[in-house]
Amino acid sequence: DLRKTSVQELLRSTDLDREVLVKGWVRTRRGNKYVQFIAVNDGSGFNSIQVVANAEQFPEEKLKADGVENGAAIAVRGRLVASQGKGQSVEIQAEEITVYGSADPTTYPLQKKGHSLEFLREIAHLRPRTNTFGAVLRIRHAMSFAIHKYFNDHGYFYIHTPIITGSDAEGAGQMFRVTTLSDTKPPLNEAGEVDYTADFFGKATNLTVSGQLEGEVAAMALGKVYTFGPTFRAENSNTARHLAEFWMIEPEVAFNDLQDNMDLAEDFLRSLVRYALEHCPDDLQFLNDQYDKELLNRLQFVVDNEFKRLTYTEAVEILKSAKQKFEFPVDWGTDLQSEHERYLVEKHFKKPVILTNYPKDIKAFYMKLDEDGRTVRAMDVLFPGIGEIIGGSQREEDMQKLTQRMQEMHVPEEDLWWYLDTRRYGSAPHAGFGLGFERLILFITGMANIRDVIPFPRFPKSAEF
Ligand code: 4AD
Ligand code: MG
Repeated sequence: DLRKTSVQELLRSTDLDREVLVKGWVRTRRGNKYVQFIAVNDGSGFNSIQVVANAEQFPEEKLKADGVENGAAIAVRGRLVASQGKGQSVEIQAEEITVYGSADPTTYPLQKKGHSLEFLREIAHLRPRTNTFGAVLRIRHAMSFAIHKYFNDHGYFYIHTPIITGSDAEGAGQMFRVTTLSDTKPPLNEAGEVDYTADFFGKATNLTVSGQLEGEVAAMALGKVYTFGPTFRAENSNTARHLAEFWMIEPEVAFNDLQDNMDLAEDFLRSLVRYALEHCPDDLQFLNDQYDKELLNRLQFVVDNEFKRLTYTEAVEILKSAKQKFEFPVDWGTDLQSEHERYLVEKHFKKPVILTNYPKDIKAFYMKLDEDGRTVRAMDVLFPGIGEIIGGSQREEDMQKLTQRMQEMHVPEEDLWWYLDTRRYGSAPHAGFGLGFERLILFITGMANIRDVIPFPRFPKSAEF
């Protein structure tokens, strides 16, 4: 008997006038007393297929009574024919419609009129059914695949790093504590209440903020590695660029220096954007037309143009002589705010920027000290509309310099004895970086808020889902 075909396959088909079976959800139903049009989408791609239902066989009252309404799950058997209407090449002339699950139009939260992104955030479990989130989620998938493909094609190995860890990779103290709440014997405090601060099997542990330190361990054996996993930051920032749980991609390469690291970051980002343009044309076109008419131009611009590279010190000089008034003053030694980063990218250079050699005091302990003793071999990649999309560095491979930085920055050596062994035995120059996956998706989709590019965003007060 007849097997189901995906909507995207049917829309591409040139084999017409045959019997087909399609299963999906009703996006819209409209029409008159002669004919009803039902748009069916099964998630396989952006476009829906039009089902034409002759009112003699399928009068509107019957479709309504059967629950063929916006949001219902249905199966349609019929003939695939060339479409008379514009906007699609094929359509299905319905012969049989089966309803799997109806959706009461008086209570179904997704109405035809379209909803604000703020409202959709409150129904995160239903928003994947909208055009916007279907597009975002398919692009998210395509980018995950493109990342693995890029590294695989370039000889990198994918390393799984732990999520529960005893160390703070960034030394910034922005960690979520992991505790044991055994149902037989929960740890109790003196008052006899469950102790939520108790340790994990006798050791203080956290959710990882970065897989970098374990990635360095792997790079010192396998040469070229990368991680791609969830990371957690307990920073109470309610911005459109921060999440408490986000995904990070962290390549780490033995014998790479800062130049190599910049070359890798730039080639990687430009390849990913090119992949999106080639593989997600329908979804990107929709997002471009719906939200941001400059999106496709901006993506193409990144593919076609080299990034601007300059030092932090040079950037501070540019910012100090800028005519624009900033909310936060700029002075050598202070961290750049996103207003400064965006000025450099969007107003001054008008292209992506890689800033290098930041003051050591505003960067992590593991970065390689420059000869001047004041700056480190750090690099941040800054993107239009986003600010920092990548942070990375060449690592300090000298045991003595590294432990001295750890002491100065109060990073406990006893927690990182295993990390220090990489410097003790067969140490070598190496470099890597972290790409925030959701910031990449923000850039590619042109969405304005990071909460709209991950299925279930975690941020302060996001407990509902
Ligand atoms: O600059 P960060 O903190 O660097 C690291 O974690 C290094 N260990 C990376 C490395 O060298 N292997 O974070 C890297 C990137 C940022 O540039 C940003 O894109 C993203 O991770 N990021 C966040 N994304 C969403 N929400 C947050 N709270 C983020 N914090 C960082
Ligand atoms: Mg950073």
